[in-house]
Amino acid sequence: MAGSARQGSIFAQKLDRTAFTSYFLGAIVPLVALAFIVERFVLPSLGEARLALGFIAVVLSLAVLSLGSFLVLRRTIRQSLRQIDGDNKRLKLLLNASQHLSSAQDESDAAAMTARCAFDVVEGSRAFVLTRDAPGSAFQLLHATGDGADKLFEKRESELHAVANLALSEGRPVIHGGEGGRGADGIAATAVPIPGDVSPLGALVVVRDAAPGPFEPAQVDSLGMLVGLASVAFRHANLQDAQRNFFTHVTDIIVMALDAHLGYHTGHPHRVAQLSNRIGRELGFDEHRLERLHFGALLHDIGMLKLDRTLQKNRLTCRSHTELGYRMLQRIRLWRDLAPIVHHHHEWYDGSGYPAGLAGEAIPIGSRIIGLCEAFDTMTSSKSYKAPLSWDDGLQEVERCTGTQFDPDVVRAFMTLVERGDIDPTIVESV
Ligand SMILES: [Fe+2]
Repeated sequence: MAGSARQGSIFAQKLDRTAFTSYFLGAIVPLVALAFIVERFVLPSLGEARLALGFIAVVLSLAVLSLGSFLVLRRTIRQSLRQIDGDNKRLKLLLNASQHLSSAQDESDAAAMTARCAFDVVEGSRAFVLTRDAPGSAFQLLHATGDGADKLFEKRESELHAVANLALSEGRPVIHGGEGGRGADGIAATAVPIPGDVSPLGALVVVRDAAPGPFEPAQVDSLGMLVGLASVAFRHANLQDAQRNFFTHVTDIIVMALDAHLGYHTGHPHRVAQLSNRIGRELGFDEHRLERLHFGALLHDIGMLKLDRTLQKNRLTCRSHTELGYRMLQRIRLWRDLAPIVHHHHEWYDGSGYPAGLAGEAIPIGSRIIGLCEAFDTMTSSKSYKAPLSWDDGLQEVERCTGTQFDPDVVRAFMTLVERGDIDPTIVESV
């Protein structure tokens, strides 16, 4: 905002210079010319001193009036410029808020962004986002911004609730505090209802500590626009939350069904997911990639659900589970991006795996991680269908297959975790 303030100031300076030049050319020059003509041609012909003084007085009056008009005009221009600068600043803050609010991941994220923006728009001291579950129910403080905001809320909770309630009952922004900017209780606040589908979701309350004066209508209007954006962000965050909840629980149900279907593999998807998460984190995956890796690992054998139990132990038919899993996930929009990870989790780094015979970097990194974790869990878990290898024998087997079956970078991350004690024998028996 410093840049825009500077731009506004340069614009104001230019306008000021233009006004002064116009004044100089339009008023000063003609006045000087008039004075010159009067002094040269009019006064000598008049003869009488009183008449001459009269003329001088007229010219001086004109000069004073012109200067007065110029100063009034200049003051008006400066006030207008201040207002335009303020509007521009608020518009930029709102645009900024709109961009940030559209990326809010949850309600508290949206509330924090709303409070921060309100704080800047109104130049308040503290901002609070209050929500309630249903009309008439008690407010809950979702977010507070500003120095000592939590303490102020504790101290003045009832007054702040009263301002918020007033805004909600009137269905419009309310300003608490008169000419001096403060109410009888010493609080200078403005509250704006946050619109919801059926009833308001809550209220945004901004408090001024050392009130410079009453809240300006333009500031309160900006808060009205801000809560409109916040309302969309809250609904979007709720929808995302519901989607995540659905996604997690449906995955759990499928993984339980898969475990029951495989029988001998109890807990395998969860163990593979735990190992994969740790390797992904060690390789520097961000939260989004870790989440996709986690769900990919949980669902990596989902294709087995399409295979009859009698076919699962048949090596050739069992291989089709990668293709079957890929097709199952491809049809579900929320899981579509997991489909390639699941499809290629049995590829080998040297290209001798299945189903496509991909090699090296051509295999999705998620598949390379899950491939190692699945193989290691199958080798070492007593819950696997084979007699388990000891922990050390399993590690030796991983090292032996590095560069052929397993990606050396993934193995390196895995071994680092083992050396650090972040992966130990308890993990394979923990689920
Ligand atoms: Fe598999």
